[in-house]
Amino acid sequence: MRKRIIYSICGVVAAGVVLFGIYAWHPEIAPVTPPDNSQFSAETIAKGKMLAAAGYCSTCHTAPGGQEYAGNYQMHTDFGTIYSSNITPDPETGIGNWSEAAFIRAMRTGVSRDGHHLLPAFPFEHFNKMTDDDIKAIYAYIMTSVPAVQQQKQENGIPFPLNIRFLQAGWKMLFADGSDFSEQADKSAQWNRGAYLAQGIAHCGACHTPRNALGGEQYDKMYQGAAIDGWIAPSLTTSSTSPLPWRQQDFYEYLRTGNSPFHGSAAGPMAPVVHHGLAALSDDDIKALSVYFADLAGNHTEDPATNPKLQAAIDAQHPMPDARINKGARLYASACAACHFSGNKLKKGRPLLALGSAVHLDDPANLVNVILDGVRRDQGIQGVVMPGFRKRLSDEDIAAISEYLRQSAGEQPWPQLQQRVSEIRLQPRFEH
Ligand code: HEC
Ligand code: HEC
Ligand code: HEC
Repeated sequence: MRKRIIYSICGVVAAGVVLFGIYAWHPEIAPVTPPDNSQFSAETIAKGKMLAAAGYCSTCHTAPGGQEYAGNYQMHTDFGTIYSSNITPDPETGIGNWSEAAFIRAMRTGVSRDGHHLLPAFPFEHFNKMTDDDIKAIYAYIMTSVPAVQQQKQENGIPFPLNIRFLQAGWKMLFADGSDFSEQADKSAQWNRGAYLAQGIAHCGACHTPRNALGGEQYDKMYQGAAIDGWIAPSLTTSSTSPLPWRQQDFYEYLRTGNSPFHGSAAGPMAPVVHHGLAALSDDDIKALSVYFADLAGNHTEDPATNPKLQAAIDAQHPMPDARINKGARLYASACAACHFSGNKLKKGRPLLALGSAVHLDDPANLVNVILDGVRRDQGIQGVVMPGFRKRLSDEDIAAISEYLRQSAGEQPWPQLQQRVSEIRLQPRFEH
């Protein structure tokens, strides 16, 4: 009897292994000679260029100081270091001998031309939401317009057994959303266009949606905020901790210019999203994105100018009466206030720090990162930069300033702040 049970368990397991093998195995797609470029129309190539920008392909596929699309951009994940692939049309080290079908399969299912599984650091689960036509346009753009560069991909630094490519199939089965994009009939065409862009090519959720312990996006918590590259991508939903609610205009302004006077500027990993990615999209597309996100954030329309929190933030700029004895207030007054004091009203383009998510999030990472490394010319409002204080302020100083800003914005102190500052200082810097 016992033996029979064991045999049948073994049988079920063996059948499972075989079925998983069939599921996990993907054939190689034969290499082709590079396609004849005259087969693509100028219009298709232009659309592909726009979509490649909106998908930040070059942000992830270009190493700092390296050649565009040639890969080896380093990504630090909880599972180890991952290097992106060379996706220039070089036939040996890039995707020059990939057929359109091989490219579509990779973008939809995360399987390389030779059949090996790709890691989800490549956001194929989002690109999967695109139409075939849009994916083909990106293929046309890369094949015709990106210069071929010969450069071998570096081996990923992922430890055994996570580095077994085959097991990726199991991960996909469990966590990847393989469904096509579906329009929501009860929403406007503009909303649906925004949803299509956000869920697909612009993959906002890859950073803003929390992940489970194995790195799978938690789709029931879409856009509710997550840690990414040492930063926090804040919640974009009704659970946002922003003092003033995000309205459609606010999303539009932030996504178009990188700055919302009622919220803040796009720094860190959000800077290239706005300035290199969304910059390629038309105004109509940015409006569509803002309609979609305004809906998820609760469709607020109240005028922020009459919100008492705005006046409170203006008042918070005035140093507390005990400025001379409070170290944070004193350091803030000497190192920061010259740039961050806007008088008795809101200045165009200069967000009040007390309104920014950096001081309201549960984790001080964004605030500390900004103090350490500043805000570059291409990240904030045009022409103005914020210097980095990495070399000039100690962990204790940064903790004191952060504590002071947190308190004047009306929030409870961050626990173990100085220790957090030390950790954040040591983490790999986000570069781009
Ligand atoms: C968030 C970073 C990121 C973004 C954005 C990104 N990729 Fe990638 N991509 C990667 C990584 C990392 C790999 C390699 C994964 C691995 O080693 O398994 C990869 C692999 C690929 C591959 C497979 C190449 C091969 O030789 O197997 C293709 C094709 C590709 N990406 C195309 C694109 C395109 C097109 C875009 C823009 C629409 C894009 N990627 C955007 C990170 C990214
Ligand atoms: C590569 C990761 C990444 C991607 C992709 C990304 N974001 Fe972000 N986002 C961030 C980070 C990190 C911040 C915090 C930036 C800061 O504090 O300056 C942020 C901030 C924001 C904010 C400001 C929120 C607040 O309360 O301050 C908005 C709005 C936003 N992102 C919208 C989007 C939208 C819409 C998309 C897709 C079109 C998107 N993001 C794609 C990482 C990302
Ligand atoms: C030389 C001028 C200058 C100085 C000095 C300066 N900043 Fe900034 N800061 C900026 C600019 C410019 C931005 C980009 C946003 C904007 O345009 O207002 C910015 C943005 C920020 C942000 C918001 C980033 C975001 O993601 O929204 C924070 C927080 C901040 N600064 C804190 C500080 C602190 C703390 C100090 C002192 C240690 C300081 N700044 C010193 C100019 C400055």
